[in-house]
Amino acid sequence: MITTTDLTKVYRSRGREVVALDGVSIHVRPGEVYGVIGRSGAGKSTLIRCLNLLERPTSGTVTVDGLDLTALAGRGNRAGRPLRRARGGIGMIFQHFNLLSSRTVRGNVELPLEILGLGRRERARKALDLLDLVGLADKARAYPAQLSGGQKQRVGIARALAGDPKVLLSDEATSALDPETTRSVLGLLRDLNRDLGLTVLLITHEMDVVKAVCDSAALMEHGRVIESGAVSDLLATPGSRLARELFPLGGGSENDGPTTVADITFHGDSAARPVISRLARTHGIDISILGAAMDTVGGRQVGRMRVELPGGPDQTAAALAFLREQGLTVEIPDPGTLTERLTGEGAR
Ligand SMILES: Nc1ncnc2c1ncn2[C@@H]1O[C@H](COP(=O)(O)OP(=O)(O)O)[C@@H](O)[C@H]1O
Ligand SMILES: [Mg+2]
Repeated sequence: MITTTDLTKVYRSRGREVVALDGVSIHVRPGEVYGVIGRSGAGKSTLIRCLNLLERPTSGTVTVDGLDLTALAGRGNRAGRPLRRARGGIGMIFQHFNLLSSRTVRGNVELPLEILGLGRRERARKALDLLDLVGLADKARAYPAQLSGGQKQRVGIARALAGDPKVLLSDEATSALDPETTRSVLGLLRDLNRDLGLTVLLITHEMDVVKAVCDSAALMEHGRVIESGAVSDLLATPGSRLARELFPLGGGSENDGPTTVADITFHGDSAARPVISRLARTHGIDISILGAAMDTVGGRQVGRMRVELPGGPDQTAAALAFLREQGLTVEIPDPGTLTERLTGEGAR
């Protein structure tokens, strides 16, 4: 539904160049909820603005629902109308809702319908239908100032759906909301995704959002996508940064004496618990499980486990060798990454 190839965006201001996007290629399948995560300044908002050509990419292409938007945008005024029509198939919601305070709720939802050229009666009917869809039929005559944050975002969603889009883009749409309101807005997005077959691309810095609603996710850093994939596969991907962000395994040791912390990735060919207990038995050691994130995908157990192995270097090497012989991927995490999180940088 959305494909970008080698998308770059370079901002030039006062002789300085900022490479905001540096060769971004993503694929979003029809009907999926796709999350883009990354620290502040990673290029997430630039990417989303390039997807509907609010921002002109410096190079690369954006294809939405089979239409090459970059080609439509390329040819001056003559191409203005096709691009505008293509944009109509893409709805967008924002962190700060961007509602017009002088208009009623219904008036806000009617705005894009006016631009589309619908008549008065048709506009009113459609706006009321959309407000019903987002659970706000009784607020049609209210003004934005009379609404809670969650209600404002529902109006934003109704407005974004006015052009019957196939794609909804969301830039931190729940970041200004409390956790409970966030849950209900995400629930609404999930319902719309399921009931209307709407493809959703959302930007967030909250891992809980990704876990709650996303089918796939991409991690951005310095204008690049450094990892992407189906959320259900990430757990079984050795060394996955996204898995580490999404399913943190907790801290380090509380034991006396020499110990080694190891992260084990289970791909599904060997179940977790028997291997750990066999290791404990055959090597006569007490293994502490510091954290685990497990799931069953296609009938196989996948996931990650952080364990603490007691003993000196020789004993540790033997234990690691045993685990690797069982077909597991074992990594010794860098102590600096044990507590590092994407959200730890004051993104809130
Ligand atoms: N209009 C602009 N002019 C110049 N630089 C910009 C502009 N918009 C964003 N940037 C820069 O591009 C980089 C990526 O920004 P942005 O896409 O907003 O990141 P994110 O949404 O991940 O926080 C940052 O370094 C930011 O300062
Ligand atoms: Mg941003």
